Amino acid sequence: MTNNSTSEKRGNFTGKLGFVLAAAGSAVGLGNIWRFPYLAAEYGGGIFLLVYLILAVTLGFALMSAEILIGRKTGLSAIGAFKKLDKRFSFVGILASIVPAIILPYYCVIGGWVAKYIAVFATGKSHAAAGDEYFGNFISGTAQPIGWFLVFLGLTALVVLFGVEKGVERVSKVMMPLLVIMIIGVTVYILCQPGAIEGVKYYLIPDFKHFKATTILAAMGQLFYSMSLAMGIMITYGSYMKKDVNVESSVHNIEIFDTGIAFLAGLMIVPAVTASGADMGKGPGLMFAVLPKVFDGMTGGVVIGLVFFVLVFFAAITSSISLMETVVSIVKDKFKVSRTVSCILVFVLCLVLGIPSALSNGGILSSVKIIGLGFLDFFDFISNSVLMPIVALITCLFIGYFLKPKTLIEEAELEGNKFKQKGLFTVVIKYIAPICIVLILGFSVLEALGVIKV
Ligand code: PHE
Repeated sequence: MTNNSTSEKRGNFTGKLGFVLAAAGSAVGLGNIWRFPYLAAEYGGGIFLLVYLILAVTLGFALMSAEILIGRKTGLSAIGAFKKLDKRFSFVGILASIVPAIILPYYCVIGGWVAKYIAVFATGKSHAAAGDEYFGNFISGTAQPIGWFLVFLGLTALVVLFGVEKGVERVSKVMMPLLVIMIIGVTVYILCQPGAIEGVKYYLIPDFKHFKATTILAAMGQLFYSMSLAMGIMITYGSYMKKDVNVESSVHNIEIFDTGIAFLAGLMIVPAVTASGADMGKGPGLMFAVLPKVFDGMTGGVVIGLVFFVLVFFAAITSSISLMETVVSIVKDKFKVSRTVSCILVFVLCLVLGIPSALSNGGILSSVKIIGLGFLDFFDFISNSVLMPIVALITCLFIGYFLKPKTLIEEAELEGNKFKQKGLFTVVIKYIAPICIVLILGFSVLEALGVIKV
């Protein structure tokens, strides 16, 4: 067994900055730049944003703190951690560990789309990419989506083989600030375009007409996804964290970073939708459909587009590294195999689940549906809207009523640190989160079944 007292095997992050950057590297990714904007566009703009922000400062804060603290307290990743704290709750660790294993393969598919757009801009084909049919033609192919998926997956696997410090920290330190600057620059440009203001209004002004139970479910799933919660990831990260690092302020930093980038990405893409005359309900292809049009109209757009997609690629790969790191570390701890063997096993799993996802968006497998969804959408739905809320619910109940919030608050207050918002933490974990999650899941199921209309 590996834990912090015998930590030769488990590397430690160098300090708070190292921890925050690595955790932010996991949190900030395609979830912020690709997923958040298309959900915001689809679920009513301002109302989605409002619900998301409320959830982030309550549920997001409490759950992220809880997971990091569980990891740091036990020095183990999800399965071992829950088992060590309470044998009866071992299944939560297992359930949580299934989530990254489901997300990672399709995450690499989308990462592959980003890689493809780097190649498109690098080879000067950006004008073609601005055409209406371009994205659809690309994802409905066979060799292309699979090939780019393999490129992205292969790179992720290579970085994971190098280990935590070398792999994750080094990459994320340089790229993130550049990404922020780039997003701000592109946003300013888009906001100056005719038609953009409609998108800004739609994005910033909540319209309660659009409010549904599924708005909250979508925002909650997105929150978990974006902050890498309810899937054991932050538990693993916490297990690498030193005891003197202040967890609460680390969580605030990660949260501000993550939510800030998602907010900016929305402010970039939603107005680009109205400015380019595209459709808000475009779903997963939204970013790939509207941004090339924007870059095409800019002076120097080829270079700007290239740099942009390269930075998105880095944000995506730090997240996929973190996803793979978690799965690899679980397989390694659980089956007592070497890191290399574990990497190979995880790689094979990604091939098995990723290839059908790559072919499900207009490609040869697009007619295969599970509960009405193609493979990629199905994996996205089952992880974000089903498994993660359930894992979050049981985690809260476990901490609230079995482990007790006090145990984690003590862990947070080690070495003279203060946990200022421990009141909020306790109330959210014990009451607010469980009640909200049960209500939201319940309403959403009833709404989906057509029993009620909210
Ligand atoms: N949080 C990452 C993002 O926003 C995605 C991710 C999900 C990373 C799950 C790790 C685990 O893109």
